[in-house]
Amino acid sequence: MSEELRRALEAELAGQKSAALAPVVERLSARYREGGAASEPILRTRADASAYAAYRMPATYAVLRHVLGEAAAQRPDLAPRTLLDVGGGTGAALWAAVETWPDLTSLTVFEQAEEASRLGSRLVAGATSPALRSARWVRGVLGPTTALPGADVATLSYVLGELPQALRDKVVDAMVEAADTVVVVEPGTPAGYRRVLAARDRLIAAGRSVAAPCPHEAACPIAGSDWCHFSARVARTSLHRQVKSATLGHEDEKFAYVVATRVPGPHAGNRVLRHPLRRKGMVQLRLCAQDGAVEDRVVSKRDPDAYRAARDVEWGDPWP
Ligand SMILES: C[S@@+](CC[C@H](N)C(=O)[O-])C[C@H]1O[C@@H](n2cnc3c(N)ncnc32)[C@H](O)[C@@H]1O
Repeated sequence: MSEELRRALEAELAGQKSAALAPVVERLSARYREGGAASEPILRTRADASAYAAYRMPATYAVLRHVLGEAAAQRPDLAPRTLLDVGGGTGAALWAAVETWPDLTSLTVFEQAEEASRLGSRLVAGATSPALRSARWVRGVLGPTTALPGADVATLSYVLGELPQALRDKVVDAMVEAADTVVVVEPGTPAGYRRVLAARDRLIAAGRSVAAPCPHEAACPIAGSDWCHFSARVARTSLHRQVKSATLGHEDEKFAYVVATRVPGPHAGNRVLRHPLRRKGMVQLRLCAQDGAVEDRVVSKRDPDAYRAARDVEWGDPWP
């Protein structure tokens, strides 16, 4: 997490007893694990917003940092100035976005939950980035005919799962209308992956080009009981550890995502789909390849340049 966000969160949550937040965290995580559309907002009270910020913001920030970083790496031409975070809650995506694209000038969050919006606004109030400081939370409920404010990039992270099935495509369509680049992130579970896949199909049908993670617009080749997902390492703050009754200093947050752009760009190399298997003198990579197939590739010492690069490559990176 950025040092500045960590300090802002600490200051925001300073008065709160971890013993009081822990049961709220427990209730929220049980609700998110259970999944399913929410008939009413899940984050209702100030305690809900605080608990969410304490235990989820470090993770959603880390994931968004990875995802937006991949978007920027694949498509340096994007250079967005305006960003819309749909269902942005306490605004983790904004903090990741200004680090990824320091030239952003305008940030808008479209959100239904009042206390989450207030908490997010308090967090950005003392930020050094002028764009963060002037971020606006627009109160609104996503519905079948919602028109979203226009932006260069629109993000939708950990929201699709809370929406009724019939609304998901409509929200993706509204994002296509509103933004040149659409970013969708979901938990790295089979169900989260399926929601991302449905959004990807929708984006491609609308003529969008996939910038990440897929190096192609063909049908997803991952089949059977497997699912496409990635992992981000999240350093836990002491409050984070307390409210989750956790002992480890970090956790690995699994996620699925898609970034699609209006203007087509060159596709990434192949995408590394698993932790590389490193053995003496060789690295085995499972790749989503540019021809739209999954392939296992062995890189051996016999190709010293490729081998050196393969020793450093990580799950989620492009290859080569
Ligand atoms: C799990 S939280 C994710 C928050 C944030 N995007 C993040 O990644 O940390 C889901 C958010 O979506 C918002 N949301 C869910 N359904 C919504 C709707 N129909 N209209 C507006 N916001 C909605 C919730 O209020 C909540 O803030």
